[in-house]
Amino acid sequence: MLIAIDGPAGAGKSTVARALADALGFTYLDSGAMYRCVALAELRGAPDPLACAIGLDERVTLEERVALDGRVTLDGEDVTDAIRTAEVTARASEVAVRPEVREALVAKQRELIAAGDYVAEGRDIGTVVAPSAELKIFLTASPKERAGRRAAELGVDAEQVLAEQAQRDGRDAAREHSPLHAALDAVELDTTGLTVDEVVQRIAELARSMSLP
Ligand code: CDP
Repeated sequence: MLIAIDGPAGAGKSTVARALADALGFTYLDSGAMYRCVALAELRGAPDPLACAIGLDERVTLEERVALDGRVTLDGEDVTDAIRTAEVTARASEVAVRPEVREALVAKQRELIAAGDYVAEGRDIGTVVAPSAELKIFLTASPKERAGRRAAELGVDAEQVLAEQAQRDGRDAAREHSPLHAALDAVELDTTGLTVDEVVQRIAELARSMSLP
């Protein structure tokens, strides 16, 4: 069973998806972390960033992934914080434009979600990775609110985050392969002014009304 949560940067996908997965007893998949790992490997000059970032996933079993509890590893190293820097963030949206990167990561994501009950979040889960997901949510919020949340989380200037976010939004929406858009059958949820709990409740209600889980 799969709940897909897509949307632009800062819409609250990660926090909401993680809390929802906890509430339902599902496994959480952060597909953005995979694009970030490729970006980090590339910035570090790895000879084959894609193999390196994907190789990590092959070595981590499902049990280990659950035990990692949201931590991200690359070649055995804990890179949970290293993949969140502004430099990696910008590079991630650049590598995500490349068809060979998308193809490889989408294949990996499909393999993972086939193995259990997942809440998976990203940009293209409901449209490309898993069009048959039982429930699809498209999370949005105003650009200002999204930038404000991210700035508070990272302790940085909101205006700068807003400018960088606009660039990433533009790249994600305009790219030729899997541009960001809501699936036709996705439920759009504007989280502006809502708390995380309120958003999680709404999605959990939707899941219940569809007899999920
Ligand atoms: O959390 P935030 O939305 O800032 O970023 P993320 O979800 O960690 O994703 C980082 C970048 O990876 C995004 O800017 C997208 O360009 C890309 N991405 C993607 O193309 N497809 C996905 N399923 C997930 C992320």
